[in-house]
Amino acid sequence: MNSVLVTGGCGYIGSHTVLSLLEKGYKVYVLDSFINSSPLVIKRLLEMHDYIKFKVSENLHFIEGDLRSSKDLEKVFLNAIKDGNEIKAVIHFAGLKSVKDSFKEVITYWDFNLAGTINLLKVMNSFSCRTLIFSSSATIYSYSEEKALKENSLIKPINPYGLTKATIEVFLQDIYSCYPDEWRIVNLRYFNPIGAHVSGKLGEDPIGNPTNIFPLILNVASKEISKLKVYGNNWNTKDGTCIRDYIHVMDLAEGHVAALNFLESNSSRIINLNIGTGIGSSVLELINIFQDVNNIEVPYEISERREGDQENVVADNTKILSTLNWQPKRSVENMCEDGWRWKLLNPKGYK
Ligand SMILES: NC(=O)c1ccc[n+]([C@@H]2O[C@H](COP(=O)([O-])OP(=O)(O)OC[C@H]3O[C@@H](n4cnc5c(N)ncnc54)[C@H](O)[C@@H]3O)[C@@H](O)[C@H]2O)c1
Repeated sequence: MNSVLVTGGCGYIGSHTVLSLLEKGYKVYVLDSFINSSPLVIKRLLEMHDYIKFKVSENLHFIEGDLRSSKDLEKVFLNAIKDGNEIKAVIHFAGLKSVKDSFKEVITYWDFNLAGTINLLKVMNSFSCRTLIFSSSATIYSYSEEKALKENSLIKPINPYGLTKATIEVFLQDIYSCYPDEWRIVNLRYFNPIGAHVSGKLGEDPIGNPTNIFPLILNVASKEISKLKVYGNNWNTKDGTCIRDYIHVMDLAEGHVAALNFLESNSSRIINLNIGTGIGSSVLELINIFQDVNNIEVPYEISERREGDQENVVADNTKILSTLNWQPKRSVENMCEDGWRWKLLNPKGYK
């Protein structure tokens, strides 16, 4: 089985994807600096024998390092060659992801996201590794009246974070255009990943105060916060609250493996794929489902609309369904149950 480098493999989506790769027998090299994750993720993965039939200790390799350091990246590629596992592909998660922080720390965001990716591509190229899956985001799309966003919908991000992602896509497209016979690239545009692995051993453990809705719901349900703020109930939607396309993090993880299989069995190309369920749920629907399946209360209050929020962000996922051997299998109920199990078993995350 081929070897894969996973940058940011200790983070929320990265850790679940590493598990999915290990389940399929891939040899996985993880590079992470722990700027937004914990070394305990690796320990947890090594303990998950029940879910992985292959020997995890032989297939999982970890290097602490920074994406922006060529030395750190070269070390991973050289280590893998020494192990007889030359890295053939990269799944690239490492980056900063808070829309709010990206306004306050704009230079840092461009440095981590764009400079980090340029560095990665330089080192990949020098090792003749030209297969890449990039973590892009629905944040790159412009405000739209469309019921569902297609890959060719207008791209016009409204925050520095989204701009870094859109710019990386432009950079990758340019590399492909200049070397069309060499690179195989998938930009996966994520919608709203939530939930956790069914075991409760892996989940989302944001450092600092979360701004995304699902970790906030978990914090309210566990009484760390008294009430959830719902930003606006006067949007033009079924119940007045915003609509999002929530996708179970394990479906997302399996989507990466499917994208990797697709690239491994095809010639050079670049392809943009929305990855979502195609089903929109309102904020109130999400809260109600969470309360019902977990039999727990999530007190909330309606507050003013937040600047920059969008009414309806749902994926048209027809392209990914017809391109990859993949489809989402888990419901919003599963997302809520699995996420709450993770919180109950790990009230302080990995700490
Ligand atoms: N979670 C979401 O809702 C979402 C949505 C769309 C896109 N994305 C993108 O998906 C990717 C993964 O998201 P996530 O939710 O798992 O985030 P995360 O913060 O949990 O994971 C990112 C990981 O990358 C590491 N990292 C960051 N900068 C690094 C660097 N310079 N060198 C080495 N390691 C570094 C962090 O320590 C962390 O482990 C990110 O690129 C994010 O922008 C996430």
